[in-house]
Amino acid sequence: MSCVVVVGTQWGDEGKGKVVDLLTRHADVVVRFQGGNNAGHTLVVGPDKFILHLIPSGILHAEKKCLIGNGVVVDLEVLQKEILTLQDRGIAVSPKNLAISEKAHLIMPYHKHLDLAREAQKGKASIGTTGRGIGPCYEDKVARIGIRVIDLLDPKVFAEKVETSLKEKNFIFEHLLKVPTIDPKEILKVYLPLAEFIRPYVTDVSIMIDQALTGNKNILFEGAQGTHLDIDHGTYPFVTSSNPVAGSVCHGSGVGPTKIQSVVGIVKAYTTRVGAGPFPTELTDETGLALREKGGEYGATTGRPRRCGWLDAVVLKDSARLNGLTHLAVTKLDVLSGQKKIKICTGYSYNTQTLTSMPAQLKTLEACRPVYEEWEGWSEPIEGIRKRENLPQTTQNYLKRIEELVKVPIGIISVGPDREATLFQDNPFS
Ligand code: GDP
Ligand code: IMO
Ligand code: MG
Repeated sequence: MSCVVVVGTQWGDEGKGKVVDLLTRHADVVVRFQGGNNAGHTLVVGPDKFILHLIPSGILHAEKKCLIGNGVVVDLEVLQKEILTLQDRGIAVSPKNLAISEKAHLIMPYHKHLDLAREAQKGKASIGTTGRGIGPCYEDKVARIGIRVIDLLDPKVFAEKVETSLKEKNFIFEHLLKVPTIDPKEILKVYLPLAEFIRPYVTDVSIMIDQALTGNKNILFEGAQGTHLDIDHGTYPFVTSSNPVAGSVCHGSGVGPTKIQSVVGIVKAYTTRVGAGPFPTELTDETGLALREKGGEYGATTGRPRRCGWLDAVVLKDSARLNGLTHLAVTKLDVLSGQKKIKICTGYSYNTQTLTSMPAQLKTLEACRPVYEEWEGWSEPIEGIRKRENLPQTTQNYLKRIEELVKVPIGIISVGPDREATLFQDNPFS
C-alpha cells in the first residue's frame, strides 16, 4: 500500500498529466483533489492525444479506478462532454472506473458569468483567469451557499439552492456589473437531466480511498495547477482559488496525512506562466519566443500563448519546502536542445540584498531581478535517449545542478510528450 502525490512546482502546465498517466501503471486508483476545469492535462500515446480537464489522467488504463474528490469544483456540462468524448474515442469510461464525490461543489452557469464579468470590469488589472468560474465557485463554497453534487440529486433541494443563490447573484449582475441576469428556470432545464446522467457515478470518495488502502492498493493523487498558483502560498492575488500544494490532498479527498509516502514535484526544464502576475525569469526576447514555439507553449485549456523564461531555482526550492517533495520529475528537457547557453536563476537581487525565497509582497517581487548562473547547453536531440547516463554530458550537468539547488533527487526525466519518451530513475511507489 502506497500513496503518491503528483504536484506542479511552478505555475502549472509542467507536464503533470503525462507523469500521472505514466505512474498509473503502478497505481490502482487515481484521484483529483483540487481545482476544476481550469486544468488542462495532456496525454500522448503514439498518434493519440487526449486533453483532460476534470477526469483524472489515469483514465486511459481501463482497469484502474479514477476518482474526483470533494475538493474539486465540477462543471457538470464539461464533465459530461469529457466522458462522452472519451467514450467516442473508444476509451472505457463508466461508473466501473470513474466516480465523483457527492461532496464536490458544482460550478454553476452564474459562476462562469461572474468570473468573466469581473475580469472584463478589471480591464488591464485582470488576473487572466481561465474564465471557467473557478474563483466564484470556491467563494460560494466558503460562504456556505455552494451547491454540491449531492444537492443536485434531490431536485427540490437543488431548485431551492439555485433560487437562493441567484437572488444575490442577479442583484450583483444587474446593479454592480451591469450584465444580463440569469433565470433559475433555465438552469433547472439543463441541470435536472444532468443529474440523471451523473447519478450512477456519485459516491463517497473518502470511503472508496479507505477501502482501497485497506485492500493494500496503491493510490496516486493528481494535482492541478502549480504551487505558485496556490491561494495561500502563491503570487497572490495572481493565483487560482484552490490549494495545489500536496497538503491539500487530505482535505480535498478525505485521506489522512499519515497515509502519504511520496510527493513528486513536476519541474518543467524551463518556466512558463499563463495569465497575469509576476514572473521574475520571464524572457520577452527571441529566446522566450523560441522556447514557446519549440515547446508548443499554448494553453491546453484556453489556447493562450504561455509566457516563457529560464528555470527558477527560487521557485523550485520554495516548492520543495511547501510540498515536502521526495522526488522531482523533470519534463520537456528536449525543448532546451539547441540552446547554446542555459541559465538558472539562483536568487533575486532586490535593492542591495539577494533573496533566496519568494517575497510575499507583490511590489517587492515585481522589483526583483534574477541572479543567474550560466550553463553550457547541448545541440543534439535527446528524445530517443532512455538512460540518464546516455544524455550529453552538459545535459547531465544541468540535471545534477537542479538536484543540488533544490536538494531533491530526480526520479523521472521526460524528453518528449509521448508516454514512452521517459527515463525512469526511481519509482516513487517502490
Ligand atoms: P499539465 O497541465 O501539467 O498536465 O501540462 P499540460 O498538458 O498543460 O502541458 C504540458 C505540455 O507539454 C503538453 O502539451 C504535453 O504533451 C507536453 N509535454 C509533456 N512532457 C513533455 C516533454 O518531456 N517534452 C515535450 N516536448 N513535451 C512534453
Ligand atoms: P494545469 O492543471 C496554468 C491560471 C490562470 C490564471 C490563474 C487564475 O493545466 O496546470 P483561474 O481560472 O484558476 O481562476 O485562473 O491561474 N491557471 C493555470 N495556469 N495551468 C493551469 O492548470 C491553470 N489553472 C489556472 O491562467 O492566471
Ligand atoms: Mg495544463
